[in-house]
Amino acid sequence: MQRLILLLSCVVILSLPIYVQAETAATYVGAKKCKTCHIKIHKTWKQTKHATTFDRLNEQEKKDPSCIECHATNKDPNLPGIHCEGCHGPGSLFTKAKIMNKKKYKADPEKQRKLALEAGLILAPDENNCKQCHNEKSPHYQGFDFKARYEEIKHKK
Ligand code: HEC
Ligand code: HEC
Ligand code: HEC
Ligand code: HEC
Repeated sequence: MQRLILLLSCVVILSLPIYVQAETAATYVGAKKCKTCHIKIHKTWKQTKHATTFDRLNEQEKKDPSCIECHATNKDPNLPGIHCEGCHGPGSLFTKAKIMNKKKYKADPEKQRKLALEAGLILAPDENNCKQCHNEKSPHYQGFDFKARYEEIKHKK
């Protein structure tokens, strides 16, 4: 029995790296992709400074990793500003047609939500998520009150 348990733990440990690899395989697709289905949310996001914040940097700063890290999504100047995925996580896997699918979501929302979460969706970005960028490392940091700031960027429908 003990041997069996030992053997099983080895199998679990050995398969961990593969699991982690699968988890990190998702890539960023950009806000235009989300727009195709979430038109209204996209519209209200566009009106927040998250969407345009890369434009606040001058030409020099646009090449400076120490600015890009919080003013572009995934620290990637090809994804300027804080796209949906800056908060909801990289979307290549959870936006697949068999997951974010209107019909399937209507038929069984819980099942679809579970699939989306397994594919890396961050459903409800929280205070810690915001603090990846809203922290003392920012030259313009003036503290961060999650409740109040969330109201300012909340999606409207
Ligand atoms: C092919 C259409 C489609 C695309 C593309 C798409 N979504 Fe969705 N998404 C849906 C549908 C349908 C739902 C189900 C709820 C609803 O109807 O709003 C949903 C739900 C969600 C939810 C809430 C999940 C839940 O279970 O409550 C989040 C968050 C989300 N999408 C984020 C995104 C982000 C971020 C992107 C882009 C990276 C994206 N979606 C791209 C169709 C899509
Ligand atoms: C750790 C993340 C982080 C880094 C690094 C960072 N910023 Fe920011 N920056 C922010 C956040 C968050 C805000 C929004 C502040 C707020 O509203 O609380 C901001 C705001 C700004 C603004 C608007 C300020 C205003 O008063 O309207 C400018 C301009 C700016 N940053 C430039 C830069 C430049 C230039 C660099 C590089 C030298 C940089 N940032 C580095 C996170 C960062
Ligand atoms: C600054 C972070 C941030 C950005 C950027 C962002 N979201 Fe969200 N999103 C949130 C938070 C926080 C919630 C609220 C979760 C809750 O209240 O339970 C949410 C909720 C949602 C939901 C589910 C609830 C609802 O309102 O329908 C969808 C769908 C969604 N976001 C899609 C998007 C899309 C599409 C974009 C880009 C156009 C986007 N989000 C950009 C933080 C963000
Ligand atoms: C990937 C980095 C990043 C994340 C994650 C992030 N922000 Fe921001 N946020 C910024 C930057 C950069 C600005 C500065 C925008 C500007 O003034 O150019 C900003 C600006 C804002 C503003 C001012 C927006 C406006 O239109 O006036 C609010 C409010 C805000 N963030 C709230 C939040 C909340 C709440 C979350 C988490 C749910 C969050 N942010 C997550 C980087 C981020």
